[in-house]
Amino acid sequence: MRPPKNLPMGPKGYPYIGSLLHFASSKRLDWLQSIADTYGDVVTFKLLKKRAYFVNHPELVKQVLTRSSANYSKKTISFKIVKEVLGESTFTSVGSEWRRKRLLVQPYFHNSQIASLGSLMTHCVTEMLDQWEAECDAGKTIELSDAMMQVTLKVVVKALFSTALSDDDLQTFAAIFPPLLAATNRRAALPFQALYALPLGSNKKYRGYIDQLDQIIFKIIHQRRLSDQQPMDLLQMLMEATDEETGQPLTDDELRNEAMTMFIAGHETTANAMSWLWTVVSQQPVIRANIEREVDAVLGQRTPTAADFADLPYCLNAFKETMRLYPPVPMLPRHVESDHSLGDYHIKGGSDLFFSPFLLHRHPDFWQQPEVFDPQRFEKDAQRAQHSYAYIPFGGGPRVCLGNNFALMEAVFIIAMTTQRFRLQVNSDATIEPLISLTTRPKYGVPVTLHRR
Ligand code: HEM
Repeated sequence: MRPPKNLPMGPKGYPYIGSLLHFASSKRLDWLQSIADTYGDVVTFKLLKKRAYFVNHPELVKQVLTRSSANYSKKTISFKIVKEVLGESTFTSVGSEWRRKRLLVQPYFHNSQIASLGSLMTHCVTEMLDQWEAECDAGKTIELSDAMMQVTLKVVVKALFSTALSDDDLQTFAAIFPPLLAATNRRAALPFQALYALPLGSNKKYRGYIDQLDQIIFKIIHQRRLSDQQPMDLLQMLMEATDEETGQPLTDDELRNEAMTMFIAGHETTANAMSWLWTVVSQQPVIRANIEREVDAVLGQRTPTAADFADLPYCLNAFKETMRLYPPVPMLPRHVESDHSLGDYHIKGGSDLFFSPFLLHRHPDFWQQPEVFDPQRFEKDAQRAQHSYAYIPFGGGPRVCLGNNFALMEAVFIIAMTTQRFRLQVNSDATIEPLISLTTRPKYGVPVTLHRR
């Protein structure tokens, strides 16, 4: 007998573990694509004892993220794992606690505020490019993913703390974040929380990273509270913000959690997308030529300002197209709070639900020649014809990324300023492959050689 029409179908999996092996494997997205091909837009499977769903249609994803978002919360295991690092923050909180935090932090991410960060961003990029001059003269190979991580970390740290962070502390940050992020990614791929509470060396090391970062962050918060100087950075703005209803400001712990959130959510994502962009540009001379033509015409050798952002649409669209093919966040999870009808499908409360920007961005029903890199897809008229939830690198609905405009301006500045001075060539013997876990990063890095223009 066929099951009733509105019950999703899916693979049976193995006794006791269900489809855990497939789901936890590095080929998770291939597997999700294959079950969507076999069973349709909504597929169900078991992860150990838990029921899970995979949703692969933009209209249904839109419903999850917008009008039914209250029923699809962030109370999932991977968010619990991220919470160990971030604590309760705009990224991890749910319900009224989230709303309070989001309302406090959001005003500082409006376009007008972001524009005021323009010179800070270009300053950090100039420092990186100046360093590259020497590397270029020496004919050295640069590890591009590391370089992009460093520059995006510097930007977000300076946006928050301006000059309060000493060079030594910045170096500590730069040394700790990569292993901390790598370990967090590993934990999210194998989300057995009990394992991470064991007194193992790796767990102590992980805690040690967080403690070291906390010491620096709390030191800066305490110094700022005692200081007469009030630089107009994000920390100062957050310290002065008060809850509309209670009039209360953020506590030190809350400030620490927001700072850690901005650091973590706000640099690896942009850095990974930038690494992919340079890989594509290096392999596709036409894309490179188009970027160079726009940058030369609009800026020449002048350092860009926020006012130039709107005049660099090709650079922006190339970045957007990069995030289509290599979305920095490849998959998003939600917890289903109670039984729900999603489109024609019945979804059980207490289960987990997943959807994938990576697969939606390559869905052949919504993209022509999805494998082809074409920034023109993001020109205004072409974009209007697209389903808005077939492209969700920043998520969507009330919990859409807070830093999207920050990231877009930063990316355009990095593209334009690098193009003014260099051509980047990915080494011909390099293996560039995505490693897909919490983020989409190049598995073996991106070794490049620099050539002056
Ligand atoms: C290309 C760069 C970026 C990408 C692709 C990205 C992606 C995302 C995605 C997909 C979400 C939604 C997660 C979900 O719904 O489960 C998110 C949320 C968030 N992002 Fe970003 N992000 C980027 C840059 C940034 C930057 C630069 C910042 C801050 C400086 C930032 C701060 C946040 C915060 C605070 C949230 C949580 C918002 C909330 O839940 O209310 N992100 N980001």
